[in-house]
Amino acid sequence: MKPKRALPWCLSLALALPLVGLGHTSAYAATDYQAEDATISQGTVATNHTGYTGTGFVDYTNVKGSYIEFTVSAASAGTSSVALRYANGTSTDRPMDISVGGTVVASGVSFPATADWNTWATRTVNVPLSAGTNKIRATATTANGGPNLDRISVGTAADTQAPTRPGQPSCSAVTEDGLTLSWGASTDNVGVAAYDIYEHGNKLSEAAGSATSKALTGLSPNTTYNLTVIARDAAGNTSQAGPVVDCTTKPSSDTTPPTEPGTLGATNVTANSVDLSWGASTDDRAVAGYDVRSDTTVYKSVTGTSTTLTGLACNSPYTLNVVARDAAGNVSEQSNTVSFTTKACAGDGGVPSSITTLSTGWTIPWGTYWMPDGQSALVTERDDFRVWKVTKDGTKTQVGTVPNAVTTNGEGGLLGVAVDPKWETDHYVYFMHTASEGNRVVRMTYNGSALSNYTVLLQGIKKNRYHNGGRLAFGPDGYLYVSTGEAQTPELAQDKNSLNGKILRMTTDGKPAPGNPFGNYVYSYGHRNPQGLAFDRSGRLWEAEFGNSSKDELNLIKPGANYGWPTCEGSCNVAGMTNPKATWNVSEASPSGIAIVRNVVYMASLRGERLWRIPINGDNESVGTPTAYYVGTYGRLRTVTKVPGADQLWLSTTNCDNNGGAADGSDKIFRVTIN
Ligand code: GCU
Ligand code: CA
Repeated sequence: MKPKRALPWCLSLALALPLVGLGHTSAYAATDYQAEDATISQGTVATNHTGYTGTGFVDYTNVKGSYIEFTVSAASAGTSSVALRYANGTSTDRPMDISVGGTVVASGVSFPATADWNTWATRTVNVPLSAGTNKIRATATTANGGPNLDRISVGTAADTQAPTRPGQPSCSAVTEDGLTLSWGASTDNVGVAAYDIYEHGNKLSEAAGSATSKALTGLSPNTTYNLTVIARDAAGNTSQAGPVVDCTTKPSSDTTPPTEPGTLGATNVTANSVDLSWGASTDDRAVAGYDVRSDTTVYKSVTGTSTTLTGLACNSPYTLNVVARDAAGNVSEQSNTVSFTTKACAGDGGVPSSITTLSTGWTIPWGTYWMPDGQSALVTERDDFRVWKVTKDGTKTQVGTVPNAVTTNGEGGLLGVAVDPKWETDHYVYFMHTASEGNRVVRMTYNGSALSNYTVLLQGIKKNRYHNGGRLAFGPDGYLYVSTGEAQTPELAQDKNSLNGKILRMTTDGKPAPGNPFGNYVYSYGHRNPQGLAFDRSGRLWEAEFGNSSKDELNLIKPGANYGWPTCEGSCNVAGMTNPKATWNVSEASPSGIAIVRNVVYMASLRGERLWRIPINGDNESVGTPTAYYVGTYGRLRTVTKVPGADQLWLSTTNCDNNGGAADGSDKIFRVTIN
């Protein structure tokens, strides 16, 4: 495997640029309407900030319901783009409803912060106009009122054409902590607004649309970065991902490890936790952190010299030590060890107590789903589209392949699988896979030994190299839940009429499930790349999704709720958006599958190469402190499922793809026992 990629702190603070248009160009005919000339209800014309156009701008009165109404003429009926030029000098979003002729056509459109009141940005929405005169109104939906509005520009037609794919990238000026990435320019009918630079599914940096190179800084030494570039235009249309290049930073010049930590002590031992403290280490450069370990297995990484280690097994012996690390990955001698036994067990909880290899010889196993009798599971392989029956003791037999599947040279392919709760009578099983036109949910017949009868239930879910979602799960209500990615086009996540960036809920013949919140397939929205779905003992749906550059999320899903992407990554304070129950730095998680055992969520993490344990607080809508298992021990962890009738998990790896770099056939499935 390649060296570990720890996302450096300076990059993990990467910009979250508001996803708004950067203005219209002359190639794109548009007519301007000044806000100061429009009908204003609760607002005043002002000139006390710079940079406005016309003779001023409108300062909305800071109340809900204040509005500006523009009278706009259209030559013919059809969709037009409306670019609102605004400033918001606060740190709080000021969402507005956009209506045409009294009908809201875009609700809660985000107007996020623009640095200060002299900095203007544009936000573009597509609206239906009739031939002749139209009244376009922008109404504040929160007590803060609207942003300051300078003007709107109404385009003759919406721009729906994405830029072309960027050309082959290459690296130059490679040092131990930086490099310059160059690529071939994209073209676009209107203009390329920006290039986003990705390392796998994580956005590392971005460059202006006029640039074809970017200096990346703050990288880790001696680390291979798998880089790709994606172009976007001002309307938010996103190109297909460009080709990839692997670039390896130079080895660190730092070879001196920190000194051994001072005396480790343990106090306040409970059934599941202990307080630890130790003396600080020193280093010729700087101590980056400490790892609390059992032998060489890391339980927790911290920056201070004390911590409460939670999630321990009850009534179990532990022997722990601490080591110090520097930024180059040099590790100190280990401290003294401390030994203790946790207190007696009770009820909910338990922790992974043993792990054994169940099955080997896999190449990117992705979906795992148990048969209703709990004696075997179906397991898919992502890139060769094979489907296997695996019995409880680990014996595997191929039962077929899924036709029409293709890869995306990234994260697409044959993804999730689900077995109909009524399989005993209908023999139906379900798959999510990437196909020529996009991602699909399909149904096949499985007679216990072979697959047949491929039927498409839902197709045309947009695909891209990354962010295809892919998990399937049946709810206790008997409906099929499907997690879809935003196909690297963030705006789709907020569009309730798009199938992307969603949890979908459907019937077993492919119709929207009755009672869905918007009358279509959508169950919840504002998701980026969700791949974890699990129902708890109260029938509540928990979901895990990959963050962009900073925060991964564990969410408790409610029908109709908006989980925030792309306005929010992790937690934020925006009206109408639901915060996650727990978040992680993307370098420590990048979660795929989740499973629940004894009211504890287990979350398999790819880039974090660990299994997170997250206790649910009883039947409350909150969770306790997450703890990590197997950090770096088994590589990238993809899927975790509960074994029916046992306090056990199956846990599978994804080490064979381009992110993990291992040879085909080297992925594994483990059995984890919870005690
Ligand atoms: C400040 C600012 C105004 C703005 C107002 C607001 O007073 O100068 O231009 O409209 O804040 O919060 O809405
Ligand atoms: Ca105001």
